[in-house]
Formats: sequence, structure tokens, C-alpha cells
Amino acid sequence: MRIEVNCSRSYPIIIEKGCLQQAQKYIDGQRRIMIITDDMVPASYRQILQEQFPHCDVKIVEHGEKAKSLAVYEDCLAALLQLNYSRKDIVIALGGGVVGDLAGFVAATYKRGITFINIPTTTLSQIDSSIGGKVAINMLDIKNCVGAFYQPSLVLIDPLVLQTLSKRHYHNGLVEAIKAGLIYDPALFAMFEQDDLDIEKVIYRSLLVKKAVVEQDERENGIRKILNFGHTFGHAYESYYHLHDYYHGECVALGMMTVLQDLDIKKRLAAILQKMDIPIMCDADKEKIFALLATDKKADHEMIDLIEVTKIGQAKIVNLPLAQLRAYL
Ligand SMILES: NC(=O)c1ccc[n+]([C@@H]2O[C@H](COP(=O)([O-])OP(=O)(O)OC[C@H]3O[C@@H](n4cnc5c(N)ncnc54)[C@H](O)[C@@H]3O)[C@@H](O)[C@H]2O)c1
Ligand SMILES: [Zn+2]
Repeated sequence: MRIEVNCSRSYPIIIEKGCLQQAQKYIDGQRRIMIITDDMVPASYRQILQEQFPHCDVKIVEHGEKAKSLAVYEDCLAALLQLNYSRKDIVIALGGGVVGDLAGFVAATYKRGITFINIPTTTLSQIDSSIGGKVAINMLDIKNCVGAFYQPSLVLIDPLVLQTLSKRHYHNGLVEAIKAGLIYDPALFAMFEQDDLDIEKVIYRSLLVKKAVVEQDERENGIRKILNFGHTFGHAYESYYHLHDYYHGECVALGMMTVLQDLDIKKRLAAILQKMDIPIMCDADKEKIFALLATDKKADHEMIDLIEVTKIGQAKIVNLPLAQLRAYL
């Protein structure tokens, strides 16, 4: 399967079992290639690339959210500089959303931008973070506060690599697909209410939702904000737990449960999440969550854009006084 994303830079997404083995078909092997990956992405995946691109360089960072730091970012830039990479060369992200966000920001800023190819290896990154062009690192415990909009030149999605992912990470990423269903695609949401999940179809439909939204509003001035459904509270939960106790998707699930007002939709969502062992409640201190909402980058002075879903497949942006968010908690 193939999707063309048409933004400031148009690029293809290839979704195909085994396409990692075929990377040579899609990537120019004449150019220098730096693969950025982390130490928990199975080594066999980078070896598959190394066999096809024997001259490539590899930068392995420590896994986890802490890789999205200024120090690791600087380290990656230094590696490129020391090896004298030019603007004609390529940075490949091989890993989950952490590696994608980090390597994408490295590619966006090294010599004012070099070619970026994303090979996402987690459900979260295959479903969501590898497209849309948001790349970033964290600072002062604030998520994604230093970054850029920078589109990849190619996204290669091989669903076979998901076989090595832990069950918790696997389910964590699916939350973004459930979100995509809730805001835009009722049939996608309904797939989660069936017994068997066709993961390739889930990835494909989720990416179509993201493509449709991002193409209309690449830099998130309007409709793209609907992709943040569950994320306003979700980011506050992530900060509250110091990006540690819960994964991104799990916090988004908590965020969606917090913000949903329609009891029937909420009940259906809870049933899906529970089937996947994803938390639907947490013990966060309400006042502290409220204080964190006020520091969110989406809060503009005393007002905040909140995404609401009142019917499955339809989202709306409501601009509310920050103080009103207390009522949701
Ligand atoms: N840019 C965006 O639009 C966007 C959207 C959503 C989330 N994000 C970001 O994505 C990040 C979370 O991404 P994630 O959930 O993919 O986490 P992650 O990148 O930390 O990956 C999870 C863990 O799985 C390991 N791993 C990766 N692929 C594997 C595989 N195939 N088999 C076994 N282990 C594997 C990783 O080494 C890591 O330890 C967050 O930083 C979040 O902010 C970005
Ligand atoms: Zn997200």
C-alpha cells in the first residue's frame, strides 16, 4: 500500500510487510546515510539496512524519552559534523516516536536541513508520529517545546517489525488509531470493537486520517488541532508523571476519558481500552493537573483550544477560558 502526502514537500508512505528488506528499492544508496536508532530497537533491523547500505554510519542513542534532550541532539549533530556530512546526505530514523522526533529535528536543523527518511518501528510511530512533520525534543521537562515542522522525504512502514514490540508498547500506539477513529473515521473506531484487529488496515486508515487533516493545515493553525484530541489533558498527565509512569498513548487515553462528555461514547471507549489493558483512570492530583494545563504551549493567555467529540467521527475545536477546564477533572 502506498499513500502520497501532499504538503510543502510531498512524500510517499510505503506500508508493506517486509519492506525493510527492500529499502534499497526506495533509498538512493549512492548518498551518504546516517542511521539514528536506539539501543532497544532490535539490532537485526539496523543490520538489514547495513547489508543494503554497507557504507552507512550508525548512531545509537539510549532508549527512552530522555533521548529527546538537548544533549543527545547535540551529540547527533556532532557526529554528522565530525563525519563531514553535507546537505546532500541522508538521515534515517529507525525506531519509535522518540527516535523519529529526535532524528527529524537533527535533520531539520543540520546545515539548515538535510534529507530525512523515517522508518518507524512502533505502532505509535507507524500509526501517527512518523507523518505530519512535527519533530522536536524536550526541555525542562516540557514536552516537544523545541522543534520544527519538517517533512520527511519518505516513510517506510514494515508492519512485520511490530512482532518484537512489547505488548504494552503495542497497545500504547493503538490509542492514536482509536483517537483517529473518534475524530474522523467511525469505521476505524468500530474496528476496535471487533475481536480480530487487522493491523495493516488500522495503520493505513489512521494514516489516511492524518494525511487528510495535515494536508489541509500543515502548521496547525486550524483543523489540524483536532489531532490533539485527548492531548491537552494527556500532555498534562505526561508532565505530572514526569514522562515516566505512563506512556504517551496511555496518557492520551486518560486525556480522552477526561474530556469526553457523551456517556455512550465514553463507555464504548472504556470497553476498548480495558480490553487492551490501557488505564482509564489515574490518581493524579487535580489541582496540579490544572496548573500544568496553564503551562501547556497550546494555552494562549487565559484561553485554550480544547477538542471535543460529540459524535464518533466528528471533532470540534472549542476555545474555552482555562478556568473552565477544572470542571472536566
Ligand atoms: N511527532 C509527532 O507527531 C508525534 C506524535 C505522537 C507521539 N510523538 C512522540 O513519540 C514518542 C513516543 O514514541 P513511541 O511510543 O514509539 O516510544 P519509543 O520511541 O520510546 O519506543 C518505545 C520502546 O520500544 C523500543 N522499540 C522500538 N521499536 C521496537 C521494535 N520493533 N521491537 C522492539 N522494541 C522496539 C524502543 O527502543 C523503545 O524502548 C514520544 O516522545 C511522543 O512525544 C510524536
Ligand atoms: Zn499523540
